[in-house]
Amino acid sequence: MRRIFVITLAIACVGLGFTGARAESKISPATEECLGCHATIHPGIVEGWKKTRHAATTPAEALAVEGLARKITGQNIPEDLKNVSLGCAECHSLNGSSHKDTFDHNGTSIHVVVSPKDCATCHVEEAGQFDKNLMAHAHGILVNNSLYKTLMGAINDTPLFDKGKVATKPANAHTEAESCLYCHGTKLEVTGSVTRETDMGEMTFPVISGWPNQGVGRINLDGSRGSCAACHTRHEFSIEMARKPYTCRECHVGPDVPASKVYEASKHGNIFSSKNSGWNFTNVPWTVGKDFTAPTCAACHMSLLTDTEGKVVVKRSHEVKDRLPYRIFGLIYAHSHPREPDTSVIRNKDGLPLPTDFAGGSADKFLYDEKERAAVKKTMQASCLSCHHQSWVDGHWERFVNTIGESNTAILAGTRIMTDIWQLGLATNHQKGGSPFDEYIERVWSDSWLFYANTIRFASAMGGGGDYGVFADGRYHLSKTVRQLEDWLNQRKPAKGKPSAK
Ligand code: HEC
Ligand code: HEC
Ligand code: HEC
Ligand code: HEC
Ligand code: HEC
Ligand code: HEC
Ligand code: HEC
Ligand code: HEC
Repeated sequence: MRRIFVITLAIACVGLGFTGARAESKISPATEECLGCHATIHPGIVEGWKKTRHAATTPAEALAVEGLARKITGQNIPEDLKNVSLGCAECHSLNGSSHKDTFDHNGTSIHVVVSPKDCATCHVEEAGQFDKNLMAHAHGILVNNSLYKTLMGAINDTPLFDKGKVATKPANAHTEAESCLYCHGTKLEVTGSVTRETDMGEMTFPVISGWPNQGVGRINLDGSRGSCAACHTRHEFSIEMARKPYTCRECHVGPDVPASKVYEASKHGNIFSSKNSGWNFTNVPWTVGKDFTAPTCAACHMSLLTDTEGKVVVKRSHEVKDRLPYRIFGLIYAHSHPREPDTSVIRNKDGLPLPTDFAGGSADKFLYDEKERAAVKKTMQASCLSCHHQSWVDGHWERFVNTIGESNTAILAGTRIMTDIWQLGLATNHQKGGSPFDEYIERVWSDSWLFYANTIRFASAMGGGGDYGVFADGRYHLSKTVRQLEDWLNQRKPAKGKPSAK
């Protein structure tokens, strides 16, 4: 072990470009041991880590930075962590006793899944905000909501065809982990342990179900929510990556949530694509105009922005609802943004766990009121106003609010037809013990709000309209869907006095 220790210390120092005594003191002896083995078995991990600020800067050095550029916010960083770089051993043993996957690994007690709560040791502000975000709650939001569960089932359950009828077999955990829970996050559980022969002898590891996963709302083995690696992938944990739109695209791209497609086709996205090679994505704070000339997802939704005199334009927040007056993702209509991140507790007037009811009303006591909406709108618009004139921004917003109203009206038309279909018994919804999302005509209806109305609103909010609001999954399809619903009903509606044609 001693030999490995010396060799790796040398390699680590060269790799990090350090010179002299300062470098040696940064890496703890415990981390040297990890590097001793992992440098050969996982060069991808070790080399990635070496390039990071975690390897280069100790918490004590980081705390010495004054002002907006300070990157750490922990009040009670343990003394033994302050003067070493954050290495494998430090990170993978934080709060060890609270992690169910803690195991003995070559003489050190470590856990595999480093959680947001661990990161909070030094980044308490980001971790605290993220936990109040819808994203951190995305697992429970889905699986604790009886209605969303039926939506999951309608999409994921495996269809079977037997005796002239389609039946389904429930989706298994593997399917769910790479379907909805890929983005929303799985629930991790230790299900046992496995002893394996490795290149370095026999070792025992925990077996973790639901793993691997980097969903934003993953339930971790210390009970905490989320994965910082969703946007700051391990082991680089970089700000540059989080500020680029590709990171968000991973999850915000489908026809239900087409933010990325809309952005790419927008003026802002166009400027990003043409010009970003000359922008600076690492400066903190991020100076509008100087570091970048058009906003990325992060700039509008999360970033700390300053003007060229260093004055704060908008504060950083990992709680994205700080800048979102509305929820434009229709459930089933767009509505005011919910106050609390766990939407599974919301009940509409029909007792369903939805922020709106099918007749078009909204569950107001769970949602931002007008005053709260005005305040968060101001925060969102602060960024716009550092590049645009007030009348440009007002003109854009007026159209956006109009689009929320008009798209909701179209969805109400479709939903009224669907309600007639249910009332006539031509399809079976939740009130009759079925699912409102699984039959053919119900799927036509759900496409109208889940895909088309959403696409129209995203295009309006983040592109000022354009193709995604019209032909590419937009108004063309929404208006057609309403006609399809009408036509389907008319063909099956019993003529007066005659029995149902179903
Ligand atoms: C004696 C060599 C050795 C040392 C020392 C060592 N590891 Fe490992 N580690 C391994 C091997 C071998 C594996 C298994 C690799 C495989 O099978 O792909 C492993 C696996 C792991 C895993 C993955 C476990 C899993 O189930 O996914 C983590 C995390 C890990 N090591 C972290 C560390 C940390 C942190 C340290 C220092 C405290 C450390 N290791 C020290 C050899 C070592
Ligand atoms: C800043 C904290 C941090 C440091 C430092 C760190 N890790 Fe990790 N590591 C993580 C996180 C977080 C994950 C899991 C990412 C996720 O899925 O959320 C992880 C995952 C892993 C895994 C499993 C990943 C896989 O693909 O199998 C291994 C193995 C591992 N780390 C080894 C190391 C080694 C070796 C070092 C030192 C070179 C190291 N870690 C340093 C936070 C850290
Ligand atoms: C023991 C303290 C500590 C812990 C725990 C910690 N960090 Fe850090 N983090 C730091 C320090 C120190 C820096 C560098 C500060 C500097 O350069 O001024 C940093 C920097 C960062 C940055 C900025 C990187 C950049 O490119 O500018 C990110 C993002 C980050 N950490 C995320 C994480 C995540 C995610 C975790 C948990 C997996 C984590 N950190 C755990 C101390 C910590
Ligand atoms: C590729 C990533 C991804 C996958 C896979 C995914 N979602 Fe989502 N989901 C999102 C995003 C992003 C949002 C938030 C959109 C927004 O806020 O406008 C979201 C939001 C939701 C919401 C709104 C929840 C609320 O109350 O806040 C529901 C319901 C939902 N998804 C259902 C599903 C179901 C069911 C599946 C699987 C059939 C699924 N999602 C798969 C990314 C995904
Ligand atoms: C690993 C997948 C994933 C990544 C990466 C991701 N998101 Fe999300 N995001 C989600 C999911 C899932 C939701 C929906 C949570 C829900 O409603 O249940 C969401 C919700 C949101 C919301 C709406 C939240 C609200 O309160 O209404 C915004 C805004 C958002 N994400 C922005 C971003 C930005 C910006 C990035 C990139 C910096 C990003 N996301 C990266 C999965 C992801
Ligand atoms: C949805 C994507 C997303 C997730 C998930 C996320 N972050 Fe971030 N993070 C960002 C973005 C975007 C920035 C850049 C903000 C800016 O430009 O001011 C950032 C910046 C940071 C910074 C500031 C770095 C610096 O150089 O000043 C830290 C520290 C950080 N995040 C830590 C975390 C921690 C800890 C977690 C998990 C609790 C986390 N982040 C989860 C998107 C994310
Ligand atoms: C020019 C600023 C801007 C840019 C760039 C931008 N957005 Fe948005 N985004 C907005 C506005 C404005 C809204 C509507 C506000 C609201 O819903 O209250 C919005 C809404 C959203 C929503 C819906 C939130 C909800 O509650 O339903 C998500 C998710 C989202 N954006 C993600 C992204 C992603 C991912 C990117 C990058 C691909 C991005 N945005 C780029 C300004 C922007
Ligand atoms: C960093 C600067 C910057 C920020 C921040 C910014 N924009 Fe822009 N925006 C631009 C530039 C540059 C253009 C391209 C103008 C042109 O076509 O000449 C543009 C174009 C637009 C367009 C396209 C208009 C069209 O018809 O093509 C809309 C809409 C828009 N911005 C709205 C917004 C809104 C709303 C916000 C805030 C939520 C915002 N912008 C934030 C720089 C910015």
